[in-house]
Amino acid sequence: MGKVGVALAAGCAAAACVTAAVMVTRRMSRRRGWRRLVRVLEELEEGCATPVGRLRQVVDAMAVEMHAGLASEGGSKLKMLLTYVHNLPTGMEKGIYYALDLGGTNFRVLRVNLGGQRSTILDHDVERQPIPQHLMTSTIEELFDFIATKLKDFVGREENVSGISAEETRELGFTFSFPVKQNSSSSGTLIKWTKGFSIQDMVGRDVSQCLQEAMSRKGLNMQVASLVNDTVGTLALGHYHDQDTVASVIFGTGTNACYLERADAIIKCQGLLSTSGGMVVNMEWGNFWSSHLPRTSYDADLDCESPNPNDQGFEKMISGMYLGDIVRRVVLRMSQESDVFGPVSSKLLVPFILRTPMIATMHEDDSPNLMEVARILRDTLQIPDVPLNVRKLVVKVCDVVTRRAARLAAAGIVGILKKIGRDGNGGTASCKAKGGGQSKMRRTVVAVEGGLYTNYTMFREYLNEAMGEILGEDVAEHVIIRVMDDGSGIGAALLAASHSASLAIDSI
Ligand code: GLC
Repeated sequence: MGKVGVALAAGCAAAACVTAAVMVTRRMSRRRGWRRLVRVLEELEEGCATPVGRLRQVVDAMAVEMHAGLASEGGSKLKMLLTYVHNLPTGMEKGIYYALDLGGTNFRVLRVNLGGQRSTILDHDVERQPIPQHLMTSTIEELFDFIATKLKDFVGREENVSGISAEETRELGFTFSFPVKQNSSSSGTLIKWTKGFSIQDMVGRDVSQCLQEAMSRKGLNMQVASLVNDTVGTLALGHYHDQDTVASVIFGTGTNACYLERADAIIKCQGLLSTSGGMVVNMEWGNFWSSHLPRTSYDADLDCESPNPNDQGFEKMISGMYLGDIVRRVVLRMSQESDVFGPVSSKLLVPFILRTPMIATMHEDDSPNLMEVARILRDTLQIPDVPLNVRKLVVKVCDVVTRRAARLAAAGIVGILKKIGRDGNGGTASCKAKGGGQSKMRRTVVAVEGGLYTNYTMFREYLNEAMGEILGEDVAEHVIIRVMDDGSGIGAALLAASHSASLAIDSI
């Protein structure tokens, strides 16, 4: 071999060595990066752990806070708002009623035709549309004029259908899904905004009056006959269909629950003179807090950066508005800790860019190569193709965050059942089995509404599974969770009917 040949061979060998060294370094760095990702995931799993023992502590804390919130105003982070709803619909309601449903991502207008004589709802018509983002932080007039205009359009189109002439006053149920201090079943003042709404000067204002004024500005002849929270509307529809319905829960943009409280519990706590037949209490459980809740640094950061820090802590761990953003924060951290995702995408820094329906799609992606996960990472977060094991890791993050949410939600529901003696532990509302000391669990129905529960199968399954774990299967089989589609709106129309002065009320 000549000098040139030797030099060439040496050059090639050196190049091969360098290439090999580069590959080894890359492999080592990839492995280190992967290990860091796994560590982030393990820390998340630890931080979000919800063993049944911890869930039972949450159940107890919920029941204790419910007592405290009922006992005095400000006695708990749970507001336990009295609704003045004593008469849940019975099926005897008759006539045509309208409803407006405002408070989540969508705004709905409905017309409900009630047959009376225990007939079911004859028909109903719903029109949905997203609430324009800018209205959530605009002015009272802008928001309410928008609502009144949509209502007027709807009524105009329905005039022939309903048979009500333009001169007649129509009665309306208004579902306003924010914390409201009710003065009666048809009026109340806003306590605070939640779920990203923030309209100046509205806090402390009479909500029905704001709507009534906007309707008269638009020349609409309508009367607000009931003002309700979405939980209360859902309970009303649940009770209309099944008289064993004792509580309702919303799992949507926000989360909240209400339940039927015994008259004596309210009289004792609030010193009211009479609450014949009990009363529905709007818990505003989104603001529930307990040291037993498993909280991570992601939750703390989300809270700090939200428009309502130190507020709605339970809601921020559970509801549809926030789950996607918790996942985004974890993926951002992973991407910062390791280059497996490539350079950190600027999209990962955008709050709320990863919406909960997207995490449901990723979580439930059953394609062999997780193509949906790849698509959402690419299209929404601008993260180019990542290896399959990294996609699997992202699915795992969705799983951990959603599982915690669903299990905490289940604990919340059992907390309510405990408070009203329907958790199988022989509370005041359960009755003794014949001849035995053992208390028998009564059939108990909880009405549920909201896309997080109806559209996200894994959330629903984890929630149901946790109910069984906490209550034990023997008790859990008596607790029925029943979905009420459009319950919040239809229920408001039903309540408008049962509160309507023109109706002979057949109360519970
Ligand atoms: C928020 C509101 C509450 C509502 C819930 C579900 O938590 O404060 O009133 O019921 O969202 O929409």
